Amino acid sequence: MSTTKLKAAILIISETASKDPSTDKCIPTLQSVFSDLGNNQWEVCATEIVPDSIIDIQKQVREWSDREGSVNLIVTSGGTGFATKDVTPEAVGPLLDRQAPGLVHGMLATSFAVTPFALMARPVAGVRKSTLILTLPGSPKGAKENLDAVLRLLPHACIQAAGAASRPLHAGGVKKLERDAGFSSSGTSGATDSHVQHHHHHHGHRHDHSGGHGGHGGHGGHAVPRAHTKPDERPQSNDPDAGPTRRYRSSPYPMLEVVDALKLIAEHTPIPIVEKAPVNMSLVGSVLAEEVKATESVPAFRASIVDGYAVRIPPSGKFEKGVYPVALVSHAQAGNVRELKEGEVARITTGAPLPPGSDAVVMVEDTVLVSQTDDGKEEKEIEILTSDIQANENVREVGSDVKEGDVILKRGEGITVVGGEFGLLASVGTQEVTVHRRPVIGVLSTGDEIIPHNRPEALRLGEVRDTNRPTLLTAIRGHGFEAVDLGIVSDKPGALEQTLRDALFKVDVIITSGGVSMGELDLLKPTIERSLGGTIHFGRVNMKPGKPTTFATIPTKHSSPSSARSHKTIFSLPGNPASAVVTFHLFVLPSLHQQSGVTPLGLPKVQVVLEEDVRMDKGRPEYHRAFVGVKADGRLHAVSTGGQRSSRIGSFKGANALLCMPAGEGSKKKGESVDALLMGKLGVLP
Ligand SMILES: *[C@@H]1O[C@H](CO)[C@@H](O)[C@H](O)[C@H]1NC(C)=O
Repeated sequence: MSTTKLKAAILIISETASKDPSTDKCIPTLQSVFSDLGNNQWEVCATEIVPDSIIDIQKQVREWSDREGSVNLIVTSGGTGFATKDVTPEAVGPLLDRQAPGLVHGMLATSFAVTPFALMARPVAGVRKSTLILTLPGSPKGAKENLDAVLRLLPHACIQAAGAASRPLHAGGVKKLERDAGFSSSGTSGATDSHVQHHHHHHGHRHDHSGGHGGHGGHGGHAVPRAHTKPDERPQSNDPDAGPTRRYRSSPYPMLEVVDALKLIAEHTPIPIVEKAPVNMSLVGSVLAEEVKATESVPAFRASIVDGYAVRIPPSGKFEKGVYPVALVSHAQAGNVRELKEGEVARITTGAPLPPGSDAVVMVEDTVLVSQTDDGKEEKEIEILTSDIQANENVREVGSDVKEGDVILKRGEGITVVGGEFGLLASVGTQEVTVHRRPVIGVLSTGDEIIPHNRPEALRLGEVRDTNRPTLLTAIRGHGFEAVDLGIVSDKPGALEQTLRDALFKVDVIITSGGVSMGELDLLKPTIERSLGGTIHFGRVNMKPGKPTTFATIPTKHSSPSSARSHKTIFSLPGNPASAVVTFHLFVLPSLHQQSGVTPLGLPKVQVVLEEDVRMDKGRPEYHRAFVGVKADGRLHAVSTGGQRSSRIGSFKGANALLCMPAGEGSKKKGESVDALLMGKLGVLP
């Protein structure tokens, strides 16, 4: 074994001491425990004091545990009680890769022997990367007792956590371990003995396993966390009130394929609500739930299609050319026009109603002016140069565009401006149509670390600007839906529940982002299930990016006046912008379409030819952002728009499509075809 000392760091968590370090008594107490009782094995290499803040605690713990040459042991003191300010377990618990409940047990048992109030502490212990972390009580006395209780066990644990092979360590068996730890064999109780013995029997399997996991340096300092137990081997329920040690450590939700996730969404999306709506601009984007019949004809009167003279054809049916008096004028404006008598003509402009009694219109080109009124302002007589005028010539008949009672729009058709549907409704004076009510979508971000994207001050460590919410709001509105900004919700359980309850009154669909990775303080799922009586239909999808996408429904109370829907849907999208946008298009949009009667659901899918090799992911189907454009061959081609790290918003710039890449080895080659979902307008490629 190395003669180098093990490195310990002490983190004091105290509001008071963080303001005035001279008030702290814990650091000297713990330092003396290490030096007096540490068997000369320890060196306290760092001490820090932080306030009761999750971000500050996590920042310091990470700094000590995550860097190269990290410390072997971190002990924290303070913040493990039940007061609301006590957040140490909430901060440290989620950082632990592996739990050490035995150490927690040991510490509690020791304190319990002194006072039953020991059980009012919520310590956690475990390993992060290669560092062992213990949370001690805040009082110097309690902290000392707890550290005393387990200190002699720690060197062995730390050396293993640091990645040393377990076999040489165990070469001397439990007796040697106990000797190293300074226990006399005869002095150990039977219980401790059998516990260690048990541990020893299994080390052949377990330690090979953890040796590979706990090693540091070999992974370039950024090992991918990997769990070694399966969800069904762990408790299923994540009760936030139960304290961090009882929260689940990995997702208990089975991994669904994208198609199965889409099926569940389709199954649990509320059926469209049918309602009457006035024909105004708010209608644009709606889909008709019933056909629309014309209530008027277009045109509603006989109108001239040329500038010229309306004439009356005599009973003989034969019009005679010659000089005629201009008896009246009909402009294209509303008003009554008197009846035209035989032998008279009326000057008429294009679109103007024919005077009663007239049968046809002679084009101005077929006439010459004969005389003017005395004031020279009006025509008095004109000569018509042709006898070849038929009844109804140059006349647009009533209803020649649309007849009253005709079906002008069918059920299922959308009201667009570009498609002319709105104009058609307007032209026949339709007052009201029956449509599918479009859902209103609320968007919120969760997380104490999330700050508004436009906050001018520089970021503090751990803070993240909220890009998801504005991005999602824009995407929703871009697809013609009404979006409501529900803001940023803190990670406190009460805050999230209240926001969701309020939102359920206002909106039909809630989209949250953040707080869905298996990481820290995920309160959304328990809030949906435990507080709001909702159902989580899936919590993980086999795709990249977007694995933690979650879909849930919440029943609506009948007392809620705004909610005709029997239940509302909640989508929880991954906490990084690129994943959020991909999963919005893939999962949320089809559901919005379904609720509003739009078909087909979701983004249009096309086949594209790859302009370059695109790597496949071994394990998961991938939605790879790309720019799709038409080339001279008339086909659609695709170029990748950059890296696929799911936290990259950058690759969205210029992306108008998602390539549907299957899981597999190697690459799809340049020239091969793949499916692509079109998010934006097609481009042109050289
Ligand atoms: C259209 O009518 C609805 C229902 O009366 C109303 O809520 C909406 O504000 C109107 N929209 C416009 C653009 O006038």
